[in-house]
Amino acid sequence: MKGKTVIYPGSFDPFTNGHLNIIARASEIFEKIIISVGHNTSKKTTLSTEERVSLIAEVTKSYPNVEVESFEGLLVDYIRKKETNTILRGMRCHSDFEYELQMATANKLMNEEVETLFMVTESQFSHISSSLIKEIISLGGSAKGFVPAVIEEKLIEKLCPAEERRKQ
Ligand code: PNS
Repeated sequence: MKGKTVIYPGSFDPFTNGHLNIIARASEIFEKIIISVGHNTSKKTTLSTEERVSLIAEVTKSYPNVEVESFEGLLVDYIRKKETNTILRGMRCHSDFEYELQMATANKLMNEEVETLFMVTESQFSHISSSLIKEIISLGGSAKGFVPAVIEEKLIEKLCPAEERRKQ
């Protein structure tokens, strides 16, 4: 039996195969997953919000119980307007823990109805991070296996223009 709707928030700049694996597994557990593209003030994004929403929608289109949208402002304010109080986050390694604990605790203090659930990233994806992928691509490397192909193409277009690729 599947239970309720969850919000899967993140900056997703870009959405990786690790994120996709969480979606694949979570879609078997939850009735509905809303992937919510938000703004992390400590990160400068490469892809616009519209690009991230549209790429994520494309790579998750085979999951009928997954929706994608963006939100502005605080996650706890956005979640008040949704049909759920539950946030889902992936946890890759122990260094994620401190940041995740801080966020989950701050969100709970701001809105006591909010619950944060964690899914452990499968080991073959635990090395993948959005920033590492951007660095690899900007230096002309291949991120095949790290991100869906359509997302890799968009990142190459943005981070490693044809002129630079010719030189490599
Ligand atoms: O993928 P990320 O960058 O770890 O996702 C972080 C995100 C976007 C979920 C977080 O920064 C967020 O919730 N941003 C919205 C603003 C907010 O509520 N900030 C306070 C978080 S305690």
